[in-house]
Amino acid sequence: MDMKNVDWSNLGFGYIQTEKRFVANFKDGKWDEGIITDDATVSINECAGVLQYAQTCFEGLKAYTTADGSVVTFRPDLNADRMIDSCKRLMMPVFPKEKFIQAVKDVVAANIDCVPPYGSGATLYIRPYMFGTNPVIGVKPADEYQFRIFVTPVGPYFKGGAKPITIRVSDYDRAAPHGTGHIKAGLNYAMSLYQIVDAHEKGFDENMYLDPATRTKVEETGGANFLFVTKDNKIVTPKSNSILPSITRRSLLIVAKEYLGLEVEEREVLLSEVKDFAECGLCGTAAVISPVGKIYDHGEEIAFPSGMDEMGPITKKLYDTLTGIQMGRIDAPEGWICKIK
Ligand code: PLP
Ligand code: COI
Repeated sequence: MDMKNVDWSNLGFGYIQTEKRFVANFKDGKWDEGIITDDATVSINECAGVLQYAQTCFEGLKAYTTADGSVVTFRPDLNADRMIDSCKRLMMPVFPKEKFIQAVKDVVAANIDCVPPYGSGATLYIRPYMFGTNPVIGVKPADEYQFRIFVTPVGPYFKGGAKPITIRVSDYDRAAPHGTGHIKAGLNYAMSLYQIVDAHEKGFDENMYLDPATRTKVEETGGANFLFVTKDNKIVTPKSNSILPSITRRSLLIVAKEYLGLEVEEREVLLSEVKDFAECGLCGTAAVISPVGKIYDHGEEIAFPSGMDEMGPITKKLYDTLTGIQMGRIDAPEGWICKIK
């Protein structure tokens, strides 16, 4: 697609095929060097491990054009680390951290015209992923794998951008206790598809998943962690072994403490106390911080005082500071910004 014709400010969160991607193959116990290629098609055997037993995991990060015209990514080392954790849990070979970071830089550099301009509201989403490629019919890990990274320019994850969304408490779980909720396995997202389609059909933007063991504690949504703000401006975020350790959430806790002087608490959050919070947001690479205005819990409505018109004041400060750091308007903590151009 010719990027000259893209209306950056009106992009949704979708896939736009770009010219270049990175591909590396694992065979005979080792990774090849990997290449940047024009070929967007994956060709694998009908019995490939990923097709039969869902042996696949992925990552998500973004590249930004900053105020001075540089192109940067945000904390790619943490995506590399998390993918290593995912691979270990799924019996996949790890893709070495330094090579992961280099491949991210190479793919962005190879698609530099696809990085949306500063101030457009759009960013370049980067999707590293790995899957088992050789035939597997007995239940066991594959022996051969492919690691790929593609990029696609994106706008806001939720339509309306910074407008508060409405979510509902889900009746189904996306992750089991001692399962795979803490890694970025494709199977977790397959588990959430029924619920996201049902939520959308009923007019909700997302699902709030509860802890599967007791269904009394807040976990996360299908694609983001929760941040709550108390009435006395404290940041509270759920702690659980079955949620994805969001890089955005971990960064926001540092931003809240170090840049905004706010108190932060990472702890179990009961569904029954959610009504007492002043603000609620969903945080993630795709979601950035998307404010939640209302939560439906089986006929009961929790409406946050921040309302349905705009972000609450603390959420807004967090959003402005984080995006300010990502876009080069605010000095970043050491090591957060990885310059590509
Ligand atoms: N939780 C889930 C289930 C996700 O898919 C994501 C997205 O990556 C997140 C949380 C947010 O994580 P991060 O901030 O690292 O993108
Ligand atoms: C991300 O934020 O990178 C994710 O993977 C979430 C997904 C729902 C798009």
